[in-house]
Amino acid sequence: MKNEARLAAPAGPVLFFDSGLGGLTVLREARYLLPYERLLYVADDAAFPIGRWPEADLKARLLSLFEGLIAAHRPKAVVIACNTAFTLVGDALRKAHPQVPFVGTVPAIKPAAERTSSGLISVLATPGTVRRAYTRGLIDSFAGQCHVRLVGSDTLAELAEHHMRGDAVSDEDLLAEISDCFVERDGRRTDIVVLACTHYPLLANRFRKIAPWPVDWLDPAEAIARQLVRVLGSAAAEEPAQAPDSAIFTSAPKDPVLERLLAGFGLVLINDRVVRRRGT
Ligand code: DGL
Repeated sequence: MKNEARLAAPAGPVLFFDSGLGGLTVLREARYLLPYERLLYVADDAAFPIGRWPEADLKARLLSLFEGLIAAHRPKAVVIACNTAFTLVGDALRKAHPQVPFVGTVPAIKPAAERTSSGLISVLATPGTVRRAYTRGLIDSFAGQCHVRLVGSDTLAELAEHHMRGDAVSDEDLLAEISDCFVERDGRRTDIVVLACTHYPLLANRFRKIAPWPVDWLDPAEAIARQLVRVLGSAAAEEPAQAPDSAIFTSAPKDPVLERLLAGFGLVLINDRVVRRRGT
């Protein structure tokens, strides 16, 4: 029975998607839980940062990109490791590709509302995610009893990319982006900041150092990886994959720094003509 399920599943990799390096925060958690799975990381870096794109343009771009990706790589599951993308196209992707299990990333507003002691939570995200009807819906459904501050940052995803590449990023620049998250009201203070962009956990240690007071920086990566394990079920690989884990960047960069960085996540940067055609 177990073997039948495995044979029925497509032999492709588990595909992780983001606009840049942020989705790696989710991929590394999945790697711990699914050591034998073959992983393919796809970054639409030609469009980065997508948090500033108009919704209609971004939706059209992502739907077209995924048509090519799914046809070319036949993934056994897709993890949209990006709040900005999933809150916009998650439903449309599931509809367009009913045969593919999708795992999404949405702002962790529900767990934040369950855990807060002060009742003051902040959601730090891209301008796109802050604007989404999806995000408002999560607040209405799960955090009605809380005071929720939405903080949209224009530059944090780019600062996270610089930080990862070893470029200097100043505390002042970071503080300017996160300071609106810290609210004092009637003697109570924000106690949870939801990291609602997968790039932001890359800066979490910096945030801890410069925060005006200690808060819980909520990173949903582990919960997403656990959801992937549940979705794969008996289709999860039980033997080491033969092929290496790889990464595709839509701008087809020739960048030794990026290659070394990806190697640290166990990924080999490859060139993919199908993705390049649609991603540029
Ligand atoms: N990492 C993405 C997210 O989770 C967004 C970064 C971008 O603006 O491209 O929302």
